Amino acid sequence: MGIESGSNILKFPAGFKWGSAVSAYQVEGNRDGSRDTDWDRHVKAHPEIIRAGEVGPDWWTVGRAEDDLGLIADLGLNTFRLSIEQDRIILEPGVVDQEAIFRYRQILKRLKSLNIEPVITLNHFTLPAYLAEAGGWANPETKQAFVDFVRTVVQEFSDVKYWLTLNEPNNLIAMGYIFGKWPPNIKKSWLSLLLPHNLVRSVARNLIEAHEEAAETIWKNIPDAKVGVANNIQWLKPKNPRSPFDLFLVRFANWYFNFRFIEATNATTDFLGINFYTGYNLKFRPALNWKQDDNGSVASAPLCSPSHQALFTSDTGWPIVPDFFSAALLELYQRFNKPIFVSENGLADRDDELRSFYILTHLAALHEAIQRGVDVWGYLHWAAVDNQEWTDGYKYRYGLIAVDPRTGERTVRNSARMYAEIAGANEIDVNRLADRYLTDEEQQVTALAIIENLQKAR
Ligand code: BGC
Repeated sequence: MGIESGSNILKFPAGFKWGSAVSAYQVEGNRDGSRDTDWDRHVKAHPEIIRAGEVGPDWWTVGRAEDDLGLIADLGLNTFRLSIEQDRIILEPGVVDQEAIFRYRQILKRLKSLNIEPVITLNHFTLPAYLAEAGGWANPETKQAFVDFVRTVVQEFSDVKYWLTLNEPNNLIAMGYIFGKWPPNIKKSWLSLLLPHNLVRSVARNLIEAHEEAAETIWKNIPDAKVGVANNIQWLKPKNPRSPFDLFLVRFANWYFNFRFIEATNATTDFLGINFYTGYNLKFRPALNWKQDDNGSVASAPLCSPSHQALFTSDTGWPIVPDFFSAALLELYQRFNKPIFVSENGLADRDDELRSFYILTHLAALHEAIQRGVDVWGYLHWAAVDNQEWTDGYKYRYGLIAVDPRTGERTVRNSARMYAEIAGANEIDVNRLADRYLTDEEQQVTALAIIENLQKAR
């Protein structure tokens, strides 16, 4: 590890984990309808989400996952994050589906034969429909059912070392229980999370306890397991760093969205999982309502209007702000004092116009955080393959590998080749990669300026 300041070769620590990620529901397909998750029900009720003929990566079909993992191994990535679907494993309380265990075992064996280390997520947003119908995360029995599922999984796959109990509980609560856009489509005030004794607080409490009991179950069965939560981080900075209102607001908003769940789970984790995509500058505004712009994005939120100064945005309109990534890593490490695993980072970019720029600048930001003492175990790019982007179906494409959702045709994106060069060398040769992969001059100049500024700030 270690480069001289200003150097253009950014070396990563020996043994650094380079990988990519998917979640079960987003890639598996093949839901025969005999049993459903809450998301299957949601998608059926909204036929506009998946269009006729769209099948996606189809990983439940033997061969599909295996072939894609072969492409991932060709890129030289040594780590892979996937999730195991509770609904497939537990047919009904107490009944385990051995065929589903067998299918996941096939996928894990394939990873092993390719020398790729798995990281398993135990809940990536979906719930078996029978649990959702009985109240979902508001019902403490969902927590118990989850812990029973976790016990089955860790006993079956006890040679796996890295585990993520929950994916983005903060986002799940926001999307499912405050905005009401995701199952269970409940809309409650954002203030609920601050008030005692209400549905949103019970959901949060049950999720926290589900994590704690799952972590205990994992450690009990696999004593050297490393356990974390994948936390969504939307990093926030003041619009005007001299305005006490903006400063106060940012402190509050970072706590409300980014820190609270980590505070509650930090004592029962080995590492901090960070899913980082974007960030905003916040300006104080004296109003409590939400406003959305024409794309459905948040134009203003209670007490604040978000904005950004980024030159480039993803297909979802999210600003590309790598300096927010290094700032987040530094502060989260100082605050929580746990090694960090970047469990997701990426962008929607169908034509692969900005992915190389995004990866290069974010990995430089990550390197900068490591230089300043942050202990980072690895980096997982979201996603390995294009997949079902929740309520947006196949509209947005996050994959290192492009998948035609109708024909299933795969194409390794050019940005994946750049990422492979970095992973293979365990270092970023900034000038050479910028020259080779950032063919747009504005992107090249901007990336080099961002990387120089990151280093200057040290
Ligand atoms: C989720 C992924 C999702 C990605 C892009 C993350 O919040 O964990 O499932 O596909 O963001 O929106």
